[in-house]
Amino acid sequence: MGQKVLVIGSGAREHAIAHALLRGGSVDEVTVAPGNPGMALDGIRVVSLGSSNHAALIDFVKDNGYDWVFVGPEVPLIEGIVDAFAAAGIKAFGPSKAAAQIEGSKDFAKQLMVRHGIPTAKYATFHELEPAVAYVREHGAPIVIKADGLAAGKGVTVAMDEDTAVHALDDIFIDHRFGNAGAKVVIEDFLEGQEFSLMSFVNGTEFWPMPISQDHKRAYDNDEGPNTGGMGAYSPVPQIPQSVVDTAIETIVRPTVEAMAAEGAPFTGILYAGLIATADGPKVIEFNARFGDPETEVVLPRLTSDLGAGISAILDGETPTFEWKTDGATLGVVLASKGYPTNVIKGAPIPEITVDADSHVYYAGVASDATHGLVANSGRVLLVETSADTIKAAQDKVYAIIDKLDTTGMFYRHDIGSKALNA
Ligand code: AMP
Ligand code: GLY
Repeated sequence: MGQKVLVIGSGAREHAIAHALLRGGSVDEVTVAPGNPGMALDGIRVVSLGSSNHAALIDFVKDNGYDWVFVGPEVPLIEGIVDAFAAAGIKAFGPSKAAAQIEGSKDFAKQLMVRHGIPTAKYATFHELEPAVAYVREHGAPIVIKADGLAAGKGVTVAMDEDTAVHALDDIFIDHRFGNAGAKVVIEDFLEGQEFSLMSFVNGTEFWPMPISQDHKRAYDNDEGPNTGGMGAYSPVPQIPQSVVDTAIETIVRPTVEAMAAEGAPFTGILYAGLIATADGPKVIEFNARFGDPETEVVLPRLTSDLGAGISAILDGETPTFEWKTDGATLGVVLASKGYPTNVIKGAPIPEITVDADSHVYYAGVASDATHGLVANSGRVLLVETSADTIKAAQDKVYAIIDKLDTTGMFYRHDIGSKALNA
């Protein structure tokens, strides 16, 4: 009999994880908590339990005989949900509270990198406005301002001039735009180069890297507009040479995994390294303690081995197998509600989307409405993903699907993947 798995989270990332688990063979039942009504279209069950309700989730797992749990989002991880499951005797894949700090605190991540010589931008930390402004004035622009703590990718300002940097500091310290996340600010040097995401399965001491992908963080075409959680992605990223990926594995991922173990907070789960390929080699922009979104939706379709078997092996202290497609390309485009990320206007009706066997729709912020069917209920609504022989073919195919939809009340970028084509 196959395994029964509970996935925690509600986004397109969790939809992709659940879908990949079901595709693998060893898992025959997946429930997502709280999930979303779009997942039901794939035969995925959902249960309306919030991802921060640890006690209720523990009871649910025990009462319903789940074999193990996959924790998707950062918030429950940083709250310590994996520790809570462990204390209740439940196997859960994801980092402990101590290890999740690598994402939860930019300051923690920076200090770890400095202690272990892991390449990243030079930085300084501030708790008050005046010294932060003085640092900006002395350092000059371009410069990057980051609210410490979680701000869902929206707490970062890449300032090309000093006034923009000072304005961002005012937002954080005077207007408290990021709430508690603004109590501390990291200011770092601007890094120039192409970004890529390198995610790995990690068991505490060893790791298994996935194919790289590239996110599109800005809201609008040509990387204009505000930073978002991510508007689309593709994999592989041919303009990043394999030698750069190998260097990133040896100078960034390996020493980070070893450092966490050596410092008493071994990392188990998915370690996401957000990197920039600078003229000086790959450097870290950020670590996440989980799968990236939308990266997961284009990376997991490239997995040819059984995802559930791999994770189950790690949870049992065995050596996992992960195998990946080595040819072709996968590309995904996010449909977002008008106004995302600043003033989301919910309620757009979601059209029915028909795709072929090489494509998939992963749902995120959707609700079910008695009269309209699925409606947009949050910023990122869904992602359309496809695999094809080349990035260009995948791009053409995804936009052929999306361009003919009625996307009233939503918007999307028209240039996902173009950096690979113009490189
Ligand atoms: P983060 O939330 O740290 O991933 O930052 C969001 C985005 O801001 C990144 O994806 C980059 O595009 C940009 N960014 C962050 N840090 C830097 C940096 N030091 N230099 C240049 N761009 C950066
Ligand atoms: N796409 C970036 C992230 O998941 O944080």
